[in-house]
Amino acid sequence: TWSNVPAGPPDPILGITEAFKADKDPRKINLGVGAYRDGNGKPYVLNAVRKAENILRDHGADKEYLPITGLPEFTKNAAKLAYGAEAAPFKDNAISVTQSISGTGALRIGGTFLARFYPHSKVIYLPVPSWGNHTPIFRDSGLEVRGYRYFDKSTVGLDFKGLVEDLKNAPEGAIVLLHACAHNPTGVDPTPEQWRAISDVIKEKKLFPFFDMAYQGFASGSTDRDAFAVRHFVKEGHQIALAQSFAKNMGLYGERVGAFSLTTADPEEKARVDSQLKIVIRPMYSNPPLHGALLANTILSRSELYNEWENEVKGMADRIISMRERLYDSLTSTHKTPGDWGHIKSQIGMFSFTGLNAAQAKALAEKAHVYMTMDGRISMAGLNGGNIDYFAESVDKVVKG
Ligand code: LMR
Repeated sequence: TWSNVPAGPPDPILGITEAFKADKDPRKINLGVGAYRDGNGKPYVLNAVRKAENILRDHGADKEYLPITGLPEFTKNAAKLAYGAEAAPFKDNAISVTQSISGTGALRIGGTFLARFYPHSKVIYLPVPSWGNHTPIFRDSGLEVRGYRYFDKSTVGLDFKGLVEDLKNAPEGAIVLLHACAHNPTGVDPTPEQWRAISDVIKEKKLFPFFDMAYQGFASGSTDRDAFAVRHFVKEGHQIALAQSFAKNMGLYGERVGAFSLTTADPEEKARVDSQLKIVIRPMYSNPPLHGALLANTILSRSELYNEWENEVKGMADRIISMRERLYDSLTSTHKTPGDWGHIKSQIGMFSFTGLNAAQAKALAEKAHVYMTMDGRISMAGLNGGNIDYFAESVDKVVKG
């Protein structure tokens, strides 16, 4: 029956984890998937999450189904975290929000909703490059995927001029996907000034901004600062779509906690959008998982846990920054590796876009048991005091050939 099914390629990101697991060498390092590791290279469950788990256990939470759009207290608190309590659509009850299967699910619900109801275009522009899963998510949602210039290889920074030019040339009404902070895979974000200019172009061209915020708190260590772009656009009067993930900032990867929201004109419009989100979601998975949303909501709704969580996010962000500094020093001072490695320190968030090419990434996996995505992205969180010297030495070897 399935003789016609061709073998597909491994996933560019999750496939790396499979290859890493199959490698038996004790020196192996996985810098592929963006998942935080502590200073000993171990997965890290936040103290705030442990405490929330204890609270839930003591309260004897049941296992009933959630509503189709998820736990209402959680989605309200998630929207508050992103938009801020003072945002006009938040205060006016004009944000339509649903719980989602983490960031991917939020993007997919959003893509499907826009393909079905957004009246002005079926085209979505993604930054080049973007997270590897964005293209298949939006293509499978029924949108036509195009790219806008984002990363400038020669400066290893933002191609701001190219970005603005491409948005200006986009057809009126097109959808534009923006990484709210800690751009994946490049670690290069617009400055607040540049965000203001991007907002102006989007307004002028009547484009529709769709934010993907998978790393709130991870870029600067502050959830408020990282929400700058989203809040600025809303203040400027844009209607936006927003995908949120709690995988990285609460370390809830496998719990699949996220939210998708749209700002609407008023509560009546919001109610109509809510009703259609339910119709999108019900045939996909009926209703979202309970436990992670309860955990996230417990943290978001209790000030002592919230404060502890914010400190822990900052702690994770700081450890990553310290690894950036060590890697930079090791490559430039210890090994004198050819090339300019300043971007390792200037890039933001969980990833560094090293500039290593696919052949070098392949050589690192085969010769040194060091795994990264083929675009040369490394998850900085996979580095620690125990493996960073070996990593720098291995990079030095492949660069020197
Ligand atoms: C990543 O880019 O590594 C993360 O967003 C995890 C994923 O699902 O790809």
